[in-house]
Amino acid sequence: MDSFEYRNNRLHCENVLLSDVAQEFGTPTYVYSRDAIELAYLEYANALEGRDAMVCYAIKANSNIAVLNILARLGAGFDVVSQGELERVLKAGARAERVVFSGVSKQSVEIRYALQVGIHCFNIESEAELERVNQVAAELSVQAPISFRINPNVDAGTHPYISTGLKENKFGIDIDEAQRIYAHAASLEHVNIIGMDCHIGSQLTEIAPFMDAMDKLLILIDDLQEQGISIQHLDLGGGLGVCYTDEVPPSAGDYIAAVLEKMADRDLKLIFEPGRSIVANAGVLLTEVEYLKHNATKNFAIVDAAMNDMLRPSLYSAYLEIVPLTLQDAAAVSEVKDATKGESLGRLYDVVGPVCESGDFLGKDRQLNIQAGDLLAVCSAGAYGFTMSSNYNTRTRAAEVMIDDNQMFEIRTRETVADLMRGEKLLPKG
Ligand code: LLP
Repeated sequence: MDSFEYRNNRLHCENVLLSDVAQEFGTPTYVYSRDAIELAYLEYANALEGRDAMVCYAIKANSNIAVLNILARLGAGFDVVSQGELERVLKAGARAERVVFSGVSKQSVEIRYALQVGIHCFNIESEAELERVNQVAAELSVQAPISFRINPNVDAGTHPYISTGLKENKFGIDIDEAQRIYAHAASLEHVNIIGMDCHIGSQLTEIAPFMDAMDKLLILIDDLQEQGISIQHLDLGGGLGVCYTDEVPPSAGDYIAAVLEKMADRDLKLIFEPGRSIVANAGVLLTEVEYLKHNATKNFAIVDAAMNDMLRPSLYSAYLEIVPLTLQDAAAVSEVKDATKGESLGRLYDVVGPVCESGDFLGKDRQLNIQAGDLLAVCSAGAYGFTMSSNYNTRTRAAEVMIDDNQMFEIRTRETVADLMRGEKLLPKG
């Protein structure tokens, strides 16, 4: 059974009617399937069965603590990029020694906190950051476990905003500089070199760029070994794409099989940092049509979700399917059609939100047969949906609901306007 499917023309998540979720919690609301999250994680874990490996879910994709907790219970590790994310995973029940800390700029306080809780590894992205980590570890009289994020200069063939492995990107250490920097790190007293990592981009739909990056990293690992620097783990980052419309990305199983083939007889621990491929298709965003508006050239469906709830279409021109919660059955459609001379079979709509920006859209030119008051689901919204949402236009952020079989759990209450104004202050009188 797919986690989201129509039965009797009504869209379900597992064994819950999505219109019941909207009824209970209002809209806009993010809805996730526990089953879909678990299956996606287990595809990685099972493919790595019997290997020394960690699947460190990149929590930036979806950091609700209920999501993290589900994964922690399955034994997942986590990839975090801030102290806030580290605090979240610990609160959700993760073990610090299964956490890697990525990101291009870690502050001293964050490094100190991560050392105190005992994370697995810092993925370091520059020489300056190396010095900082060494310094903070010295203050605590400890050794920081480190890896360098290598920029292998490969083209991930994805959207420029989410491509990270090219020389012109801000990320990682230039592969040509890597040997020198590793040697320098080996001379520092308060860091302990344990790994090498890369992350070449997101929403990759081919295996080849991963393999190119891996080839380059394996050569570097061998060169370092000759210099007397031994690498215990190779972290290949995240980046595996998902199907939003008609993409056919490799499955996690196929991707890992290709990686394992290259590893042959090497005794390296493997780490992966998948984000999107664990949660994207495990979530939808429910929204209600507020108004239909027609002008000379366009039809607009104005819905109650907006770019502040789901930024991906505005920021990356990302395409997300938008579907009605209730399908009109063929008989009903033809009746309506007769009654209204064909118009109600649907029109092409731009699905837009209430935010005061022309860039505020969730989808363009979508064939929909809808009326005000209808409910829609924005699909594949489980990754980089809620986590990228904002309060622009003083809009409260959506509720989040987890479905587990026939049960629904509110895992985040919708914000109130009072929540938004907390901490703001008027100037004194006069
Ligand atoms: N590891 C590192 C170091 C990363 O920077 C990222 C994502 C991941 C892992 C997880 O990558 P994934 O498996 O999710 O592709 N907001 C964009 C995606 C930005 C990805 C940033 N880094 C979007 O909505 O498409």
